[in-house]
Amino acid sequence: MKQTDLSLYNNSPYHPGGNAVKRILWYYVNCLFFKSGLFPFYGVKNLLLRAFGAKIGKHVEIKPCVNIKYPWHLTIGNEVWIGENVWIDCLVPVIIGNNVCLSQGSMILTGSHNYKKTTFDLITDNVVLEDGVWIGAGAIVNLGITAASHAVLSSGSVATTNLEPYSIYQGNPAKKVRERDID
Ligand SMILES: CC(C)(COP(=O)(O)OP(=O)(O)OC[C@H]1O[C@@H](n2cnc3c(N)ncnc32)[C@H](O)[C@@H]1OP(=O)(O)O)[C@@H](O)C(=O)NCCC(=O)NCCS
Repeated sequence: MKQTDLSLYNNSPYHPGGNAVKRILWYYVNCLFFKSGLFPFYGVKNLLLRAFGAKIGKHVEIKPCVNIKYPWHLTIGNEVWIGENVWIDCLVPVIIGNNVCLSQGSMILTGSHNYKKTTFDLITDNVVLEDGVWIGAGAIVNLGITAASHAVLSSGSVATTNLEPYSIYQGNPAKKVRERDID
C-alpha cells in the first residue's frame, strides 16, 4: 500500500495573494486585533480589514476571538454578525451576503487535501453564503459550498453539499430537515 509522504508536499501551485510583507503584517494584525479578543471595537476592525483588501459593507459586527486567514479574499455585505471563535479560513474567496449570521465557533473552510495522492496536495475552492444565511454555533461549511439565500445550517452540523434556499439543514453530513418559513 502506498503511503502519505508529507515530505513531498509542494505548496507552490497555490498563490495566497498579497505579497510576503502584507501576509506577515496581516498575521500580526490578526493575532492582536482579531484573534486575541483584546479589541472589541467593530469599526476599527472593519477599517483594518478594508486596509488589507477585504470588501466590508455597513454595520458588520465582528466579535472577539475571530480568526481570518487572508482578508483580501473576503467579501462581507451589510448587517452581518460574526460570533466569537469563528474561523474564516479564506485561502481563496469567501463571499458573505447581507444579513448573514455566523454563530460562535463556526468554521468556513476553503481548503482540503487530496488523500488519494502520496503528496497530499492542497485543494481549494470558494465559499458563498447568500443573503440571510445563518450558520449555527460550531457548524462547519466545507470548501466549494454555496449556502443559498436564507439557508440555515444548524449548530454542530457539517455542510458537504450546497444548501438550498430557505431550508434548514442538520447533521454530519448535513441533510435538509425542513423549509424555513419567515412570517
Ligand atoms: C436549526 C435550529 C434553530 C432548530 O430548528 P428546527 O430544526 O426548526 O428545530 P426543531 O425541529 O427543534 O423545531 C421545533 C419547533 O420550534 C421551532 N424552532 C426551533 N428553533 C427555532 C428558532 N431558532 N427560531 C424559530 N423557530 C424555532 C421550529 O420551527 C419548530 O416549530 P414548528 O413545529 O411549529 O415547525 C437549531 O437546531 C440550531 O441549530 N440553533 C442554532 C443555535 C445557535 O447556533 N446559537 C448560537 C447563536 S445565539
